[in-house]
Amino acid sequence: MVSDVVTVHPVARVRGRVRPPGDKSISHRYALLAAIAEGTSSISGYSTGGDCGSTLRCLRGLGVSIEEVGRHPETGLEIRIEGRGLRGLRPPDAVLDAGNSGSTIRMLAGILAAHPFRATLTGDESLRRRPMRRVVVPLERMGARISSEDGRPPLTIEGTSRLAAIEFEPDVPSAQVKSAVLLAGLHADGVTRVREPLATRDHTERALRAFGASVSCVDRMVGVQGGQRLQGQTLTVPGDLSSAAFWLVAGAALPGSEVTIEGVGLNPTRAAILGVLARMGARIESSAAPDGGSAGEPTGTLVVRHGTLTPIELAPEEVPGVIDELPVLAALATHGGALGVTGAQELRVKESDRIAALAEGFRRMGADIDERPDGFHVRASRRLRGGEVDAHHDHRLAMAFAIAALGASGPTAIHGADAAAVSYPEFFAVLESLRA
Ligand code: S3P
Repeated sequence: MVSDVVTVHPVARVRGRVRPPGDKSISHRYALLAAIAEGTSSISGYSTGGDCGSTLRCLRGLGVSIEEVGRHPETGLEIRIEGRGLRGLRPPDAVLDAGNSGSTIRMLAGILAAHPFRATLTGDESLRRRPMRRVVVPLERMGARISSEDGRPPLTIEGTSRLAAIEFEPDVPSAQVKSAVLLAGLHADGVTRVREPLATRDHTERALRAFGASVSCVDRMVGVQGGQRLQGQTLTVPGDLSSAAFWLVAGAALPGSEVTIEGVGLNPTRAAILGVLARMGARIESSAAPDGGSAGEPTGTLVVRHGTLTPIELAPEEVPGVIDELPVLAALATHGGALGVTGAQELRVKESDRIAALAEGFRRMGADIDERPDGFHVRASRRLRGGEVDAHHDHRLAMAFAIAALGASGPTAIHGADAAAVSYPEFFAVLESLRA
C-alpha cells in the first residue's frame, strides 16, 4: 500500500530492469469483452491498478462471475471470467461504482446502452467532475436513454435491445468514446461507424478481433457489424507503455543511467512517446518480442540510456498519441531542454485539471513553467530545489512529480502519492529498486 505522503530524494542515476504492470487500457477491454463473450476467458497480466479493479467490480455488479486465479509480483493478476454472451448482463442490485476510472464508466455505458434495464454508474469526486456528454450523445442517438448531472456522472442508463447503428464523428479525439460507440454497435442492427478526427489508440479494434469479431478500419473510419458473437479467449495483457514511460524518462534524464523494460506493449497507436523522447534526446533501443506479441498487440523490450536533452515543441496533432505521457514528458523538461505543448485542452478534464495542477506542483519545486489555456511550456533554465507538492489525487501527476524530484537539489514531499495505485501500485517500490 502506498502512503498518502511520499518523500522522494534526489538520485544521481537509475539502473536496473523493470516489468511494468499490465496495460490499463487493454486490461479494461479484455475484461469487458470477456464478460459479453460466450464461454470462459482466462486473462493473465491483468493490471493490478485500482482502475482495472473498478471494471471488475462493476462487472460483478452486473452478474458476471470473475475469479482471481493468481497474483504474481512480476506478471500481475490472473483472472478467469465466465462470459454471459451478448445482452447477457443482469440488472444490478445497486449503483455501479467506477471509482476513478473514466475508461470504465464510458466504455461500460456503451455496453449498458444495449441492455434492456436501468443501471446507474457513478464514481469518485474526480470522476463525477468529468464530461460524459461525449458518450451520452451518440448512445442516445442509438436509442438508449441516459440521464446525468448536467453532463457529468452519475449516469442512469436505460438501455434497449433494439439499438440502431449510427455513423458518428466525435468532437474530441477519444479512444474511450470510440470504444463506447463500437461496443454499443456490436449489439446494434446494422453497421456502426466511428470517424475519428485524429487517430487514437486502437486496442478495442484489436481486442474485438482477438475475441472473434470482424472490424473494418479504413483511414480513420472504424466499423463494426452488430450481432457478432464473441468467443471466450486465453489472453495475456502486455506491460503498460504509459507506466514504463516514467522509467524511460528517469533513464533519459539522469547521466549514467540504464534501464531495461521488459514485456512492454509497443502498439503503434501508443508508441509515439518513443519518438518524442528520441526528439528530446533520450537514447532508446527497442526490440520486438520473438513471438511478436499476443492477440494482435505487439510487445518487446526497451533499453533507455541518458542523452543530452534538447528543447522541443509538440504539435497539436501529436497530442492524442501521448495524452497520458504529457505530465512525465514535462518532468523530463525540468531535467534538461524544454517542452512546449499546445492543443492539449483535454488535459484539463482528466483525473485532475492536469495543466493547472502540473504547473502548480512544478512551480513549488522551483521549475520554470508557463501555463497555456491548452498546454504548457516548461524549461530547464534552473535546477529544481524540491519542496511540497499536491498530486490532486491524480496518479499520473503523483508519479510525474516523483520523476522530476529525482533531479532536484533537495527532497520533495508528494501529498496524495497514494493515487499512483490507480494505475501502478508498485511504482514507489520500483523507484527505490532502481536507485543505483
Ligand atoms: C484511454 C483513452 C484516453 C486515455 C486514458 C485511457 C483508453 O482517454 O487518456 O487514460 O483506454 O481508451 P480519452 O479517450 O478520454 O482520450
